[in-house]
Amino acid sequence: MSLFRPDIERIAGYVPGEQPRETGWVKLNTNENPYPPSPKVVAAIEAAAHARLNVYPDPLSTRFRQLAAELFNVEPDWILPANGSDENLTIIMRTFVDPKEQVAYPYPSYILYETLAEIQGASWVRLQLNADWSWNRDACRPLIENSKLVLVPNPNSPSGTRWSDDDILALLPPNGVLVLDEAYGDFCDDPHSGELLQSDAGKRIIITRTLSKSYSLAGIRMGFSVAHPDLTRGMLKVKDSYNCNTLSLAAGVAALEDQQWMKDNAARIRQSRSTLTASLSELGFEVETSQANFVWATHPEGRHQQIFEELKNRKILVRYMRFAGADENEIDGLRITVGTDDELGTFINAMREIV
Ligand SMILES: Cc1ncc(COP(=O)(O)O)c(C=O)c1O
Repeated sequence: MSLFRPDIERIAGYVPGEQPRETGWVKLNTNENPYPPSPKVVAAIEAAAHARLNVYPDPLSTRFRQLAAELFNVEPDWILPANGSDENLTIIMRTFVDPKEQVAYPYPSYILYETLAEIQGASWVRLQLNADWSWNRDACRPLIENSKLVLVPNPNSPSGTRWSDDDILALLPPNGVLVLDEAYGDFCDDPHSGELLQSDAGKRIIITRTLSKSYSLAGIRMGFSVAHPDLTRGMLKVKDSYNCNTLSLAAGVAALEDQQWMKDNAARIRQSRSTLTASLSELGFEVETSQANFVWATHPEGRHQQIFEELKNRKILVRYMRFAGADENEIDGLRITVGTDDELGTFINAMREIV
């Protein structure tokens, strides 16, 4: 007899990308930033570690909220800091979706959304993307109409596609909330500050951001959401009282204060993304136009899993991904994180030998 809730017994659970514990790997599999965080972040963590760890952190993360609000030209009550975007997505699911309600998300994209819906006892539907990663609006409309929550990564993972505001507004469920998961938003050629939130539709849109990627803080677990206070008000009731710890908050504040550091690294990554795209194309891969810190590459001859294994034998980790297609065909390919130019050089040399 299982002691688990049936919903928990039934699900497989989300499996994150491999995190080898030993060094020596060229790690291009989980979209981390290859550059270190601002030195001011390290100094802030050290200072916080020597301050008052015996007391609870500020439950409202006041300073962090102020800084994040300035980035989006909103008041601090629009901001909800969290232990990474994944925690914010959990808070959103628990705040807005009742068991048995429906959640929709584009497919292929971030599979965690399915797992979060399943844990909540909700159902999910996939908004199948066209082969060129565009939307089939007619097919999506009835699914969206019946959904309480629509979750959309923009730019998308694994394709790196960034959809237009027009595409995004068509995804707003008439009786629900649209979540724009902008984990990779800072890597866009033309990053924005949530202008969509200022429209009428914006009252039912939540943007989630993370410091894991552009701010090089995946190990710290810090993110935030931006939404009208009428939405944030409910989310505040659901979050743990002290969901962000003292050291994460110190790191997060210092990182947001040093915008130039983040922007310089994002610019380097955009530059390397172009070089990586060109090198893979020369090797015969089809590479999607990416606005994120990774690219999605497929080869006309397939063999993606084999290429992944051969790279792994050389201590180079990329992400092999396989998705069921609309007509039962499988879509598979390689998602490659933009590393340093040295790492990408090693990767491309290995690819030359393999393909
Ligand atoms: C689309 C998307 N959203 C959210 C996350 C998770 O972000 P965080 O590290 O802030 O939990 C990821 C991580 O890879 C992601 O790809």
